[in-house]
Order: sequence, then C-alpha cells, then structure tokens
Amino acid sequence: MSFQVSVQPSQHSFHAQPEETILDAALRQGLCLPYGCRDGVCGSCRGKVLSGQVAHGKAALDVLSEADRHAGDALFCCAMARSDLVIESREIRSLDDIPIRTLPARVHSLTRAAPDVMIVELKLPASERLQFLAGQYVDILLKEGKRRAFSIANAPHEDAFLQLHVRHIPGGKFTEHVFETLKERDLLRLRGPQGSFFLRSDSHKPILLVAGGTGFAPIKAIVQQAIAEKNERPMLIYWGGRQPADLYLLPLAEQWPAQHPQLRFIPVLSDAPADECWKGRRGLVHQAAMADQPDLSGYQAYVCGSPAMVAAARQDFQTLCHLPAEEFFADSFDFASDTLAAIDTTNPKDRKVGQDE
Ligand SMILES: Cc1cc2nc3c(=O)[nH]c(=O)nc-3n(C[C@H](O)[C@H](O)[C@H](O)COP(=O)(O)OP(=O)(O)OC[C@H]3O[C@@H](n4cnc5c(N)ncnc54)[C@H](O)[C@@H]3O)c2cc1C
Ligand code: FES
Repeated sequence: MSFQVSVQPSQHSFHAQPEETILDAALRQGLCLPYGCRDGVCGSCRGKVLSGQVAHGKAALDVLSEADRHAGDALFCCAMARSDLVIESREIRSLDDIPIRTLPARVHSLTRAAPDVMIVELKLPASERLQFLAGQYVDILLKEGKRRAFSIANAPHEDAFLQLHVRHIPGGKFTEHVFETLKERDLLRLRGPQGSFFLRSDSHKPILLVAGGTGFAPIKAIVQQAIAEKNERPMLIYWGGRQPADLYLLPLAEQWPAQHPQLRFIPVLSDAPADECWKGRRGLVHQAAMADQPDLSGYQAYVCGSPAMVAAARQDFQTLCHLPAEEFFADSFDFASDTLAAIDTTNPKDRKVGQDE
C-alpha cells in the first residue's frame, strides 16, 4: 500500500510507501525537497503537514519538539506517511537553491574497475549528506589551495556513499595518490556540489547522452535518476572508449534498456584490435551517435569526457546535425589549472550553463 503526498505550494505529488521517509520517496521520484543530514539532526528538511498523519520516526525531540509536532511541523527525512498527505515544503528548483559545502569524507571503498579506473566510494560524516543534482561534481581539496574535480557517479536518491570514477593520470598529483597510496578509511576534503551539468527537466525533447571513458560517471547518475523518477523521455546513451577495458561498467549499462524500453545503449570502441572479440560499434563515439541520428534538431545533448571529445561533439552536433546551441550541455574533463586555484571557481554562477567546465 502506498500513500499519495501532495506538495504545497508547487502542487507536485508523489507516492510514499509506509516504511520509507517522505524525503526518500520524493527523491526517488525526482522531486528535490531540501535536505542536509538526512538523519534528523540539521533541520534543513523541516516543513509542515497540512493534512493527514505521519509517524515522526527518529526525529529527535531537541530538533522537533512535541509542540512543533502538534503545530504540524515535521522533518521529512524522518517522517513516514500514515495516510494520504498534503505537505508544505520548499522545492529545489535551481542551482542557486543548493548550498555549496566543504565537508570531510572518509574513503569507504576502492575498487579497481579497470587497469586505469578506480571506483572510489566516499562516506560523509554520520550526520551529513550532500544535496546535489544528478550529473554535478565535487572538488577534492588538496594542499596549498589546489583542487581536482570529479563527477558524482550516483544519483541523489542513493547517496549513502558518494561514488567517484577516477582515471589514473600517470604522474598526476591526485590520481597517482589514489592509485598508489590512498586506502580505505583515509580522509579527504571535498567542496560541492559544483557545476551545471544536470538533466533539464523543463523539456520534453528526446535526449542524447554521450560519454567518453570516465565521463560515464555523471551520465550514469543522470540515467539512474531518470529511471528512478520514471522519466518517459527517450534516451540514447553512447559510451566510448579505446579498448574494451575502458567500458568498465558495461554490464550495468547493458541492462538498462532491458528494463526500460525508452533507453537505448550503444557502446563504441575506437581502438579495439581487429582480432579482438568485439562485436559492437567501432570509431569515435560522437561520430557513432551522429551516424545513427544525423538530424539532432529536435534533441537535447549531454556530453561528458575529454576536452577533445566534448569540443568535437559540440562543433559537429551543431554544424552537421543541426543541434540548437542552447540544447548542448557538457562537462569537459579539463586538467586542473593550479595557477587558478586562488580564484573562487566554486560559485556556480561562474560556470555557465552549456559551457565546458
Ligand atoms: C568538471 C570536471 C569533472 C571531472 N570529473 C572527472 C571524473 O569524474 N573522473 C575523472 O577521472 N576525471 C575527471 N575530471 C578530470 C580530473 O579532474 C583531472 O583528470 C584531474 O585533475 C587529474 O588530476 P591529477 O592531480 O592526477 O593530475 P594533475 O597533477 O592535475 O596533472 C598532471 C599532468 O597530467 C596531465 N593530465 C591531467 N589531467 C589529465 C586528463 N584528464 N587527461 C590527460 N592528461 C591529463 C596534464 O599534462 C597535467 O599537467 C574532471 C574534470 C573536470 C573539470
Ligand atoms: S534533519 Fe537534516 S535533512 Fe532532515
């Protein structure tokens, strides 16, 4: 049995199971209610129950007193529906609504997904969660004001850990550390969420997603978010690498279309040896997308990966396939310019929508 939850003043609605929190149910269905700790401590998710009954779960009395409860207040990260509800809550509608925070994060796990790709799971302190939009990234803060950007590979509704996909850059200051010395339980510091690479929900156009290498990380988050919120927009997902090992989560991506008919997934290799048992597409990933969709005039495109791939896709999609310039969104995995570290690049307003980061 599930209950219907209507949100005021937006008039959006979603369904909540009795055993899940109202916040979890909202996030699962793509509604971005505000939150911080997701643990009943910070009060960021506080709102009003205008009608219906809730169980307040683990909300602590010093954060939500008996008087607050009688007045109809609730912490939506703790409250569970016990009937159909009308609630009053703010909704996160733009990047400006999401606070950018600096937090410590402990390394929970390190998984070598390919010879040069490490999947790093980070755990925030017990009473902290990072609110973000699927597709955004965090800056890992290094010594002397240096920072390195990594996209968050999980969707916001599955944020027990922050997942990063780190490609090894031989000699690279941070990624060498990840591959050589970083261990489980080590502490990192991060600042985020950052960037404007996220799915625009105010469009009904079909979506072309193109990832190169670890550019798969934010694409994975966007697709998993779309699946969770039962987004019906058709999605064409292209993932390119040089060798088979570069498609380090191929089974995961291959199962998406099997379960969700509006999704198509096409892996592409540019450098698979001729004798290799690779039955899939060959060539450059953005060119494979163009070969299949020569007319992109009715699409939105989301592209993520190396600066060269992103630049080529931007140019070719627009000039050869008629993609409107304002429908191209990208995160380009540019190298950090340590000389710019003193400049505050953390303000999302400094990062323009649709431009390379
Ligand atoms: C918005 C954004 C999101 C990003 N997300 C991811 C992600 O999810 N996963 C990921 O693996 N990377 C990602 N990157 C790239 C990542 O931040 C850089 O690769 C990282 O800065 C390398 O750090 P490093 O300290 O190891 O190397 P550095 O010490 O910065 O670099 C050492 C040298 O290696 C070379 N180099 C550096 N980076 C690269 C590169 N990417 N490719 C080729 N040569 C390079 C340069 O010559 C550089 O001088 C992202 C970048 C941006 C801007
Ligand atoms: S009390 Fe922190 S998110 Fe609910």
